[in-house]
Amino acid sequence: MSVVIVVGAQWGDEGKGKVVDLFTERADVVVRYGGGANAGHTLVIDGQKLVTHLVPSGVCHPGKSCVLGDGMVIDPHTLLEEVALCQARGLLLRGELLVGLGAHVILPYHKLLDGLREDRAAKTGKAIGTTRRGIGPAYETKAARKGVRVRDLLKPARLCELVAANIDEIVPLINHLGGTPPSTAEVETWIEDALAAGQKLAPYTGEASRHVARAIAGGQHVLFEGAQGCLLDLDHGTYPYVTSSSTIAAGACQSAGIGPTAIDAVVGITKAYATRVGSGPFPTELHDETGSRLRNAGGEFGATTGRPRRCGWLDLPALRMGARLSGMTHLALTKLDVLGEMPEVSVCVAYKVDGKEFDEPPIDPDDIARAEPVYTSFPGWGRLPSEARDVTDLPTPARVYVETIERMAGVPFCLVSVGPDRNETIRLHDPFG
Ligand code: IMP
Repeated sequence: MSVVIVVGAQWGDEGKGKVVDLFTERADVVVRYGGGANAGHTLVIDGQKLVTHLVPSGVCHPGKSCVLGDGMVIDPHTLLEEVALCQARGLLLRGELLVGLGAHVILPYHKLLDGLREDRAAKTGKAIGTTRRGIGPAYETKAARKGVRVRDLLKPARLCELVAANIDEIVPLINHLGGTPPSTAEVETWIEDALAAGQKLAPYTGEASRHVARAIAGGQHVLFEGAQGCLLDLDHGTYPYVTSSSTIAAGACQSAGIGPTAIDAVVGITKAYATRVGSGPFPTELHDETGSRLRNAGGEFGATTGRPRRCGWLDLPALRMGARLSGMTHLALTKLDVLGEMPEVSVCVAYKVDGKEFDEPPIDPDDIARAEPVYTSFPGWGRLPSEARDVTDLPTPARVYVETIERMAGVPFCLVSVGPDRNETIRLHDPFG
């Protein structure tokens, strides 16, 4: 086992940062492959918090190669800020970072369009609730084959030509959305800033796909770090309330340029309850005091936008769908300790729509939106011993909860997290074998 993909099994924010950080102990190369600074991974190391948006969560292990794959959309300024932050903490000082030359660049007009679209849609209650980081518009430009790639930041004439062509096309759209098109001076500043960022990033750029392929061929351990979650996948998630990239395991192969036969294991990260940011169906959402209690106990506020996350009980139909879409070989359970705050814990085992039971979300998103969750409840277990290192160290109701989820999801756990710190973890199986 040398190539492992980690994906979010729900709607993102499952605690992937901590799990990737732990798995990185055994990895040589860690690859972020999709999305961009819409992600926010919180790492707590020796009580100190580090939030990354672009740099892989493996960054905290000096000497491990951290790759940003060609399928990403990268805001160069955010990346440079993050690199500076990491370097101030003594990280990324040994040439560990490699930014794919083929990755696409988010420019200010992508963010402008993202915001204008959301503002307009909000007036009719149709906003997606994006992170406004320009992710969707950047992927649109890419699909239109007019995007600026990291390599273009190193070629001034090419960059000017591409930006001019983009601006020419989006000005009517900005007007249509009620925005103010940028002035010529503003566009010139955007180009100058992008070129300056390109100069600073140049030493970190390279051929990401070949770099990863060489590592795999050399028998190194490679960890692919997914962003967001399976149910936010552009093709298979709760469309249109999704992100604009492929968040399932197949996205790792597509975006990093690695064949599927190279993959040995897929680990899906699931929180012990469920959260969602932005709009879209969420059958187990709790609109009451219990939901607020979960939010406060779990610190469920976006690492990227600070938005309060919608909270609810663990949704097994959604988890089964994520497991199927990504071919998960293992699950990692996070934030089990948070449920210790609850007097009683429920888990949704099926959905009911028009009297019919579904063990996975129905195909029609309107049916998901009106699905009634069927719950099983467990007695609360109080504070978990943070020194628990085996499932048998857990209070009986917590252990029964873990075993029930494992059985009903049909995928074994490789890890259970009982607190935010690295060592507050029950390790059951090493995905690298
Ligand atoms: P976008 O990716 O910014 O276009 O946002 C599209 C949807 O995905 C919105 O509902 C966001 O809240 C959600 N989303 C994007 N990135 C994340 C993430 O890292 N965690 C959770 N939700 C996310």
